[in-house]
Amino acid sequence: MTAPDIGSRATVSGLLRDIAHLGVDSRRGGYSRPVYSTAELDLRGWFIAEVERRGLTVETDRNGALWAWWDLPSGDRSDALITGSHLDSVPGGGQFDGPLGVASALVALDELRRRDLPRERALALVVFPEEEGSRFGVACLGSRLMAGAIAPDAARALKDPEGNTFADVAKANGLDPEGIGPEPELLASLGAFVELHVEQGLGLIDLGRPIAIGGAILGHGRWRISLYGQGNHAGTTLMADRRDPMIAAARAVVAIRDAAKRRPNARATVGRLQPVPGGTNVIASRVDFWIDVRHPDDAVTADLVEEIRRTAELIAAEEDCTMEFREESLSPTVSFDAGLSAQLGRSLPGAPVLDTGAGHDAGVLAAKLPSAMLFVRNPNGVSHSPEEYVEDADAEIGAAALADALADLLAGER
Ligand code: GLV
Ligand code: MN
Ligand code: MN
Repeated sequence: MTAPDIGSRATVSGLLRDIAHLGVDSRRGGYSRPVYSTAELDLRGWFIAEVERRGLTVETDRNGALWAWWDLPSGDRSDALITGSHLDSVPGGGQFDGPLGVASALVALDELRRRDLPRERALALVVFPEEEGSRFGVACLGSRLMAGAIAPDAARALKDPEGNTFADVAKANGLDPEGIGPEPELLASLGAFVELHVEQGLGLIDLGRPIAIGGAILGHGRWRISLYGQGNHAGTTLMADRRDPMIAAARAVVAIRDAAKRRPNARATVGRLQPVPGGTNVIASRVDFWIDVRHPDDAVTADLVEEIRRTAELIAAEEDCTMEFREESLSPTVSFDAGLSAQLGRSLPGAPVLDTGAGHDAGVLAAKLPSAMLFVRNPNGVSHSPEEYVEDADAEIGAAALADALADLLAGER
C-alpha cells in the first residue's frame, strides 16, 4: 500500500507550529489544554484531520482515546503496534509534552508509508486522554481505565475544580459513562506500544545525544491533604485566638520538603494549594493541598508518604486544626519491557538508555503489553513550564528514530 499524496512532506516542527495557537494561556504563560476543554477538543480535531488527510479513519474508544489504524490489507489487527502520546497539558505547560509524541507518530507514519516496506503488523496512532490528570486529578486516566488500573466507579466520580464529575463531562463529550472501563481484549490483541516523548530533564544534554531509549519510570503518586480550622475575620480575630489552617499548611509544606530531602533521590512537591473561601481579609476555614511524591524504590515512597501523613497530622493538632489525608493515585516504579527496549537498541544503535522521573501512559500500559519509550533531547531540561523546549532538528531526529524503530517492529523483529 502506498501513501496517499499529502502534499509537501510534513515535519514535526511544522505540525507543532500548526497547533501552536491552541490553548495558549495568556495569564499563566505557555499552554493550558485540560482534557475536554475547547483547546483539547480542537487538538483532537487537528489530529483527526491529519490522519484523515492520510486516508486513515479515527475510532474513539469507550474511554475517549483516539485510535487511527494503518491496517494491513488483510485487516488483521492481532499483535498490532501502537505509537502516540497525549494532547492534554498541565496548567501553563509547554508545547512538547504530549504533542511531540503525536506529531512524531504522524511523521513516522508518513516515512513508513514512503518506504513501502513489507510488514507483518498493523499500526495504530493513539492519543490518550487526561494523561496529566490536570482536570480530574488522576494522571493517565485514559490508559488507567483501559488497563483496569482504576475502577470505573471511582473514575466516574472524579470531579474537576468546578465540581463537574468525569461521568458528566464524558457524557457531554459523547462517551457513555457507564461504558468506560477495562479493554482486556483490545489489550491482548496489541503487540507493543512505543511512546516518543520530550525528555523532561537534562539526561540527554549531559550525554550530548539527541535521543534515548526509556529505562524506567520512578514510582509516583498524588495525595490530597485537607486542613480544617475556623473561618474568621482577619481584622477582629486576635492572633492567639485563631485556628488558621493556612498556618498549618505552610508548616506542612516545609516539613514535606525536609522529609523528602532526608531520602536521597526522593521528590516531593506541593504545586497546588487552595484556601477556602480564599479572601484577602478572611482567615481560611479550610485549606486543600496536593502532594506529588516520587522515588525509585516504592517502599521508600510509602515510608515518605507515611512520614508526611504523621507530620501533617501533628502540625494540624498543634495549630488546633483537623486533617484529612487521601490517596488520589499511585503508580509503582516501572521498568520498560527488556525485549522491546533491546529491539529498539538494535534499531537505534548507540542510543543511550535513560530513566525518568515523569509518568507516562506507556508506564501504565507496561503492565499489560510490552511497552517502551523514546526520549528527545530537551536543551534546558525544563518541562511542565512554558520554557519547555525541543530544537527543530532534534524533533526530526526523534521522528526518524521512531520510524526506524517501528519499521523493524512492523517487519516482525522482536
Ligand atoms: C506527568 O507528566 C507527570 O509525570 O506528572
Ligand atoms: Mn507531563
Ligand atoms: Mn507527557
